[in-house]
Amino acid sequence: MLKERLSKALSDQVNAEFYSAYLYLGMSAYADRAGFKGIANWLHVQSREEMAHAIHIYRHILERGGTPSFDDITASRAEYGGIREVFEKVLAHERHVSGLIDGIASIALEERDHATYNFIAWFVSEQVEEEASAEELVSKARHAGDDPALLFSLDAALAARTFRDPFPPSGDD
Ligand code: FEO
Repeated sequence: MLKERLSKALSDQVNAEFYSAYLYLGMSAYADRAGFKGIANWLHVQSREEMAHAIHIYRHILERGGTPSFDDITASRAEYGGIREVFEKVLAHERHVSGLIDGIASIALEERDHATYNFIAWFVSEQVEEEASAEELVSKARHAGDDPALLFSLDAALAARTFRDPFPPSGDD
């Protein structure tokens, strides 16, 4: 049975993951409208992954007998000052999310809920990857600066990303 404190922290995380999806969808819209279809694709796949994270955490709350709560999701935006700003915001956001995930891991340990600690450990590792890929994109976007050729080369590279469900139904992977 999930303790109330942990149930609330996990519900807040479901909300944060949906906000992440909303944030990246807004960024994707910006990139699409700016003509960077590959970058828009990368951000759209990122948005879908965030929704998968949200649902995975939501399911854990129910599975462990918790009570999910559903607060408002913070508004997103679709206007940015350039691709570099977009990726800098992605990195800043992922660092913020890492802090939230670490907070849940700490609460799970304090509450001696080892099942939830084990569950959230996947997200701790995932955040290492999320931050690393965002750092790489910030570095590439900074290097490209305002050079259209370099920006479109980055755009072409990011067009290849495809969505893969991080939590496929069992027997499907
Ligand atoms: Fe679900 Fe990008 O963290």
